[in-house]
Amino acid sequence: MSESLVYPVSGEWAHRAFIDADKYQALYKRSINDPDGFWGDEARRRLDWIKPFTKVKNTSFGPGDVHIKWFEDGVTNIALNCIDRHLDKRGDQVAIIWEGDDPSRSLKITYRQLHERVSRFANVLKAHGIEKGDTVTIYMPMIPEAAYAMLACARIGAIHSVVFGGFSPDSLAGRIKDCGSKLLITSDEGLRGGKRVPLKANVDTALEKVPFIVNKVIVVKHTGGDIHWEKGRDFWLHEEIENVSPDCPVTPVGAEDPLFILYTSGSTGTPKGVVHTTAGYLLYAAMTHQYVFDYHDGDIYWCTADVGWVTGHSYILYGPLCNGATTLMFEGVPTYPTISRFWDVVDKHKVNTFYTAPTAIRSLMGAGEEPVKKTSRASLRLLGTVGEPINPEAWEWYYKVVGDSRCPIMDTWWQTETGGHLITPLPGVTPLKPGSATKPFFGIKPEIVDGSGVVQEGPAEGILVIADSWPGQMRTVFGDHDRFIQTYFASFPGKYFSGDGARRDADGDYWITGRVDDVINVSGHRMGTAEVESALVAHERVAEAAVVGFPHDIKGQGIFAYVTLINGHEPSDKLRKDLVAWVRQEIGPIASPDIVQFAPGLPKTRSGKIMRRILRKIAENEFQALGDTSTLADPAVVEDLIRERKKL
Ligand code: WTA
Repeated sequence: MSESLVYPVSGEWAHRAFIDADKYQALYKRSINDPDGFWGDEARRRLDWIKPFTKVKNTSFGPGDVHIKWFEDGVTNIALNCIDRHLDKRGDQVAIIWEGDDPSRSLKITYRQLHERVSRFANVLKAHGIEKGDTVTIYMPMIPEAAYAMLACARIGAIHSVVFGGFSPDSLAGRIKDCGSKLLITSDEGLRGGKRVPLKANVDTALEKVPFIVNKVIVVKHTGGDIHWEKGRDFWLHEEIENVSPDCPVTPVGAEDPLFILYTSGSTGTPKGVVHTTAGYLLYAAMTHQYVFDYHDGDIYWCTADVGWVTGHSYILYGPLCNGATTLMFEGVPTYPTISRFWDVVDKHKVNTFYTAPTAIRSLMGAGEEPVKKTSRASLRLLGTVGEPINPEAWEWYYKVVGDSRCPIMDTWWQTETGGHLITPLPGVTPLKPGSATKPFFGIKPEIVDGSGVVQEGPAEGILVIADSWPGQMRTVFGDHDRFIQTYFASFPGKYFSGDGARRDADGDYWITGRVDDVINVSGHRMGTAEVESALVAHERVAEAAVVGFPHDIKGQGIFAYVTLINGHEPSDKLRKDLVAWVRQEIGPIASPDIVQFAPGLPKTRSGKIMRRILRKIAENEFQALGDTSTLADPAVVEDLIRERKKL
């Protein structure tokens, strides 16, 4: 382990940062000992309220009753905090820099322009019958209208559910059905790496699968590509905004009213609709954005995520805009038109803070230093990563090559469920260790427990749980509070179960070791193995499937699928390709299996449970480490699996 490698806080950062080590200690202590005082002060200082709250924290992780409420009697509005209140001071400041897939296209949107566009969009939603509490599905490319759409929902108290534009019509349909949105916002097509993504066509297919739910589709004209048009259902945004007023007062919204639903994979079943509410979420996103990235007025900040993921919600949109920041939104991919694109964009817009995923770093590392070194990157001051553990080699490359050894790296550990960063360095506070997410943010009480829930003290490795609530935490699973309790609070009663493993070293720094459940992390995207399995068994030739992750140089983890065919069907390379294409079509390209192995039988216990531990080891080519196979119903299947694996 590279634990001996420590990068101390530089003099420049100790001087510049909002928070130094002493301040961190004092604030952290207060946040844990006096959460009401700490968070009450932050919520008054950072948010504008329509009606002030009188209560701060009202939470219980059980056992028994589980409820999470913050600032519950306060009334506010997200758009008020992210737009309107900035107009006096920053009306002419750029809120969003948009950089198109095509490098010749970019836009700058000021807070004043944002205000007008969001207000008009909100009035369009109202004109089409959307009211406070209604759900709206957003299926968009990375264009400013995606941000306007989200903020327009927030402005009128509607709940948005953004579905990543890379998901298939089937996945989109499932998410529409689950939250029952009557209105959907999309665009004709998206653009990524010079290729068109048929978003509207996907919407048309999805809506056939779930008829009678969505009755209005608002379409943004982006590429001008040919699309099918359903009269009476489909409306062009650019025509609709002509018919509405540019004034739209914000709708007062309770602190605990839902802001959005975001579907995410778990170890079992269909994706869960993670529900985030208004005030606590915004406060937590804004505060982490300010301190973790040390955001000062005038900085240019760029998070490369897609708004279809939580990172896009919290750290492209809500956190930065609440702080009155300038946030960059990028439509394209890191390799188009050249592999220097990220750094060209950094130079073009003089980006100071750059936040991306380890998988992007690893894929760029492969092309060597030259495409990076030929750019200036002199504006960069701070780097961040998120989404998966960063291997020390990638960390060092990011630090030395991208950041010229002068930009600290914030390795931020968090989840869709947590709303914002939970374990992360702070630039003026934390000595950095490549591969470690280091220390808890304010108000976060991480613990490491063993399988039976016993809390481990000192240096230890085990399961990462969080012992108490923080304002940015998810509140429920949409439409299924019981599933919320079962998933997060049943394994270790009284604690939030993260699903991740972690190690704590002698300095108290945390090292995330990866998921301990059946979720895999492919290029920083969460994928439930159960979802891929259910897509595979929906194929007419597949009897049974078991999916596991395996180490992948660039993606972090790849998807390995064991497939048993229905009697009478023969394995073939063609069928292997068909199955990969099938999963792409059922879920989306991010779920494509990297390896499909045909298996006449799967290793099962006598009670019929598939032993994934064995499948994981075989996928990893670790045939010596299978452990005890004597409890298998038919130990001979293991020999078959190993023989076939060696042939792949
Ligand atoms: C993983 C993304 C190690 C982790 C914000 C978590 C990480 C899952 C890190 C959540 C990190 C995220 N180091 N692992 N810095 N950040 N993860 O919901 O396994 O898409 O549980 O949220 O990503 O993924 P999600």
